[in-house]
Amino acid sequence: MNKITVGLEERSYPVFITEKMVTTFPCSFKELFNKKKCVLVTNSTIAKLYSKVIAAWQQELNFALHVMSDGEKHKTVKTWNEVIDTFIAHQLDRSDYVIALGGGVVGDIAGFAAAAYMRGIDYVQVPTTLLAMVDSSVGGKTAVDHPRGKNLIGAFHQPRGVWADLSFLETLPKREFIGGCAELFKYGFIGGQEIFSFIKNNSQKLIDGEADVLMEGIKKSVETKARIVGEDEKEAGNRALLNFGHTFAHALEQFYGFEGLIHGEALIWGMLCACELGSRNMTMLSTHKAEYRKLLCQLPLPALPYEPEPHLLYRAMFADKKASGGKLRFVLPSVPGKAVVVKDVSEKRVMDTLESVLVKKTSAFLNRSQPLS
Ligand code: NAD
Ligand code: GLY
Repeated sequence: MNKITVGLEERSYPVFITEKMVTTFPCSFKELFNKKKCVLVTNSTIAKLYSKVIAAWQQELNFALHVMSDGEKHKTVKTWNEVIDTFIAHQLDRSDYVIALGGGVVGDIAGFAAAAYMRGIDYVQVPTTLLAMVDSSVGGKTAVDHPRGKNLIGAFHQPRGVWADLSFLETLPKREFIGGCAELFKYGFIGGQEIFSFIKNNSQKLIDGEADVLMEGIKKSVETKARIVGEDEKEAGNRALLNFGHTFAHALEQFYGFEGLIHGEALIWGMLCACELGSRNMTMLSTHKAEYRKLLCQLPLPALPYEPEPHLLYRAMFADKKASGGKLRFVLPSVPGKAVVVKDVSEKRVMDTLESVLVKKTSAFLNRSQPLS
C-alpha cells in the first residue's frame, strides 16, 4: 500500500493506493466520519459490476445509494440536480458525507454536489478507472459540462481522502485503460525528468497493465499531482501545467458533443497537438522531438468520429478556463519532464497545428505523411 498526502494545511488529505483492500474501506470511512449519514454516488455500470461490493459496504455503512446514468453526456447540471435531490430526500446535513465510487464523471459530479449542498459537505473519492486514480480523484476540481464548454460549471472542493484500489481495474475496458494511460503519460511531460524517464522506460509495461509497474506509475503520478496542487490549489500558476494537452482535448470533446471520443482519447490527440505547437512555437527543441514521439506513439492513436473543423475547434478553445482577457494560453512542452505556459500564440500557428495533426495528419511531430485513422 502507498500513502501520499496532498498538503493543504488543515484541508490536507491522504491518497491511498492499494491492491485488493476494497473490503476494508468501510472501516476507514467509519474511522473518519464516525456514525455520520452518507450517500454513495455511482453509475449504472459500476452499480451492476460491483453490486456485491456495494451491498457489503452498505451493510456496514447503511448509506443511501444514488445511481446515475453512465457517460460523459450525463455530466450535466440535470444529473447534478438529481444527486442533490437524493441528498435532500435522505436529509443529509452539514455533518454528513458522500462517497463517490466511479470514474472521473462520477467523481466530478458527486464532488460538485458535495461542494454545493449546504455550501459544502464532506466527500471521499473511490476512483475505479485508471484516469480517475492518477488524476481526477485528486486535487479537488469538481464540475459538470455545458453544451458550450467542458467543465464550465464547478467548484474547487477537496475530498477528505482518496482510496484507489487497483483491483477495480480488472473490469475496466481496454479502451478506458488506454485513456487512463494517456493521463498518466501526461505527467511525463510536466512532472520532471525522473517521471519522464520512468514512463519512457516502462511505457509498454504500463500499457500492458503490469501490476508492479502500474502501481509505481500511479504512485508517481499522484505524487506529482499532490505536489503541484499543494503549491497552487486554485490554479493561479503552475497548476495550469496539469492541463497539458487539455486545451485541445476539451475542444475536441466539445466539438463531438461529448460522445464518440472519450476524454483520455481526446487527450492523446491533445498531447500530439501540444507537441506539434511546441515544435512550431519553438518552446521545444528539435533534439527532444524523438523522445516525445517515442513516448506518445506507444499509445494507440484513437480514431476520430469524423473529420473535425479547425475553425470550430479554435472557437471552442475560448471556453477553456485558461483563456483570459479573450486570449488563449497553451501548455507546451519544453525539455523532457517540463512544460511551460505560453500566451500570445498566433491564431495561424494554432490553426496550422490543428490542420496538420487532426485533419491532414501530416504533423511534423508525428513524422508521418499518411493518414493514421
Ligand atoms: P468515466 O467516469 O466516464 O469512466 C469511463 C467508463 O468506464 C464509464 O463507462 C464507466 O462506467 C466505466 N467504468 C468505471 N470504472 C469501471 C470499472 N472499474 N470497470 C468497468 N468499467 C468501469 O471516465 P474517466 O475516464 O474515469 O474520467 C473522465 C472524466 O474525468 C471527464 O469528465 C474529465 O473531464 C474528468 N477529469 C477530471 C479531472 C479533475 O481534476 N477533476 C481530471 C481529469 C479528468
Ligand atoms: N486535471 C487538471 C487539474 O486537476 O488541475
